[in-house]
Amino acid sequence: MDHSTDIAAKVAGHDPATENASGPEDRARFRAMTEGTQEDWSIIARDYMAFAGSLPDRVLAHLKLLDGDFGGFPVDRLQHSLQTATRAHRDGRGESYVVMALLHDIGDTLGTYNHPDVAAAIVKPFVTEEEHWICQHHGAFQGYYYFHFIGMDRDMREKYRGQPHFAACEHFCATYDQAAFDPDYASEPLEFFEPMLRRVMAKPLASMYAKQD
Ligand SMILES: [Fe+2]
Ligand SMILES: [Fe+2]
Repeated sequence: MDHSTDIAAKVAGHDPATENASGPEDRARFRAMTEGTQEDWSIIARDYMAFAGSLPDRVLAHLKLLDGDFGGFPVDRLQHSLQTATRAHRDGRGESYVVMALLHDIGDTLGTYNHPDVAAAIVKPFVTEEEHWICQHHGAFQGYYYFHFIGMDRDMREKYRGQPHFAACEHFCATYDQAAFDPDYASEPLEFFEPMLRRVMAKPLASMYAKQD
């Protein structure tokens, strides 16, 4: 049986079993936004709140897509993510840092040519500026450990030398990311990080779509 539609729907945060339960009366009536009314937008705002609340579920579902995806590495991408997060957690890092570490490669599936950008966009509302910068730039810094093996410049990170979060990003890659390919390392399972991820993603620190306290 082909479950691909159900899986895709679940990744998108929709449950086909309940999706059709709401009728047209539960939806906005406009055909163009120029026709929108307060009633329309009250309906949409209500549904948006529920949808936003299930963001951690969609992120976890997408992270699980990395399971079994080795790409030639000694561990698959999910285990690498868990190991990076576990190393950061055991080193005493705070929750938002650990969640960033857990998600730093989540963009590998859709952002094959720019995976740090995808992860950075996902964590941005929930982490510090420094943690976001680490996530966004970890690709260039991680390259120090292998770019010279594939005909690239291992010193690509030098273009960021002098920037405020250079040392923090260098430390993330040196201590957690580049070290997280050990098949014998006892990482915490995804379930260990799930409550942490839900706490960190419960409320954005900043978002153009959220009112600030
Ligand atoms: Fe990466
Ligand atoms: Fe990584």
